[in-house]
Amino acid sequence: MNELGIYVHWPYCAAICPYCDFNVYRARGASNAPLLDAVEADLAAHAERYTQRNAQSLFLGGGTPSLLRGEEVARLIDGARRTFGLAAGCEITLEANPEDAALFAEQAAAGVNRFSIGAQAFDDEALKALGRRHDSASALRAIEAAATTGQRVSLDLIYAREGQSGEAWRAELEQALKLPVEHVSLYQLTIEAETAFARRVARGQLTPPDQEAAATLYELTQEVCEAAGFTAYEISNHARGPAAQARHNLIYWRSGDWIGVGPGAHGRVTHDGARIALEAQRRPADYIDAVRENGVGWITEARLSGEEAADELLIMGLRTHEGVDVERFAALRGRPFNAEAVAWLEQQGFIVHDGARIRLTQAGRLIANTIAAELGV
Ligand SMILES: C[S@@+](CC[C@H](N)C(=O)[O-])C[C@H]1O[C@@H](n2cnc3c(N)ncnc32)[C@H](O)[C@@H]1O
Ligand code: SF4
Repeated sequence: MNELGIYVHWPYCAAICPYCDFNVYRARGASNAPLLDAVEADLAAHAERYTQRNAQSLFLGGGTPSLLRGEEVARLIDGARRTFGLAAGCEITLEANPEDAALFAEQAAAGVNRFSIGAQAFDDEALKALGRRHDSASALRAIEAAATTGQRVSLDLIYAREGQSGEAWRAELEQALKLPVEHVSLYQLTIEAETAFARRVARGQLTPPDQEAAATLYELTQEVCEAAGFTAYEISNHARGPAAQARHNLIYWRSGDWIGVGPGAHGRVTHDGARIALEAQRRPADYIDAVRENGVGWITEARLSGEEAADELLIMGLRTHEGVDVERFAALRGRPFNAEAVAWLEQQGFIVHDGARIRLTQAGRLIANTIAAELGV
């Protein structure tokens, strides 16, 4: 039986960052109660319709769920416990912005056992350019505050920023890896359509590094992390040993099952032998209305074809260092990988095929999407 994860999307943020295209809304001080009620009811609806088995992970993501007080976080955790049940040792992650550090102790007391802190940079100029409301010193204080709770700590950084040199990134990353964290997510800045950054790029006011410069920074990132004992286990994620890997994200990358609740959340569940894809109403008010009126938050509920499920297994699995299970892929798709494409990609040094699994090499990781397309035909 697949592992089960639960994702709760909390869509509110104190301010909207100019690079972000997640489903986010400015927090305006309104009561959180209607959305908390809707999430709880939606959890119950999912459990009733799909499964009541225990979850191995609960991820409170956003948006900025660290805006929630301890008792509100406790409501979400209790909601998941009552409806699905949380397995012993369940990973309970909270995505946290550094400005909310004063709440970490009460959030840990409510049951959070892993903080994922959006530090983004340890360079005050860069933080300003990213439109962040915190500076390096408060990011450091937040990491200290999270570590003091005794829970697991991960941090997010964005690199390949405008004007960022290799030497500056090396120094920044080496400093970050000395902090009391067991896991880092290191994302290349992506210019997402319809964000303020995309408009600046179009006007010539922002010039992110080109693909070649970004690839050089990616390789440098791998080298610095490896030297500091943070092993890459996915394209952007590094952990100090297997126990520190993000269990929740591994569920996505291994095409496990997860329930997604909250505005715009996606879910995937295996039900009656099929893989079901669910997606919730995006706008918070519509989501709350949907749950009130229909008893469920999702607006789409579709059975994936074997081909679609195989595509997802491939695209997500190639992101990981463990790679894609060849037999599982063939069973889903109804035919094996194209042997010629596999042989050619292996010969070019982009993949390794050991009979049971296909993995990307370092060179392959730089063109992961192209390789997925080659293998998916
Ligand atoms: C959904 S955000 C939530 C995190 C939290 N609200 C914060 O801002 O710290 C998760 C992570 O995605 C990354 N991210 C968001 N937009 C990005 C972009 N355009 N390019 C690269 N990374 C991005 C950031 O590192 C961020 O910490
Ligand atoms: S990066 Fe984080 S704080 Fe900024 S808008 Fe996106 S989710 Fe909100």
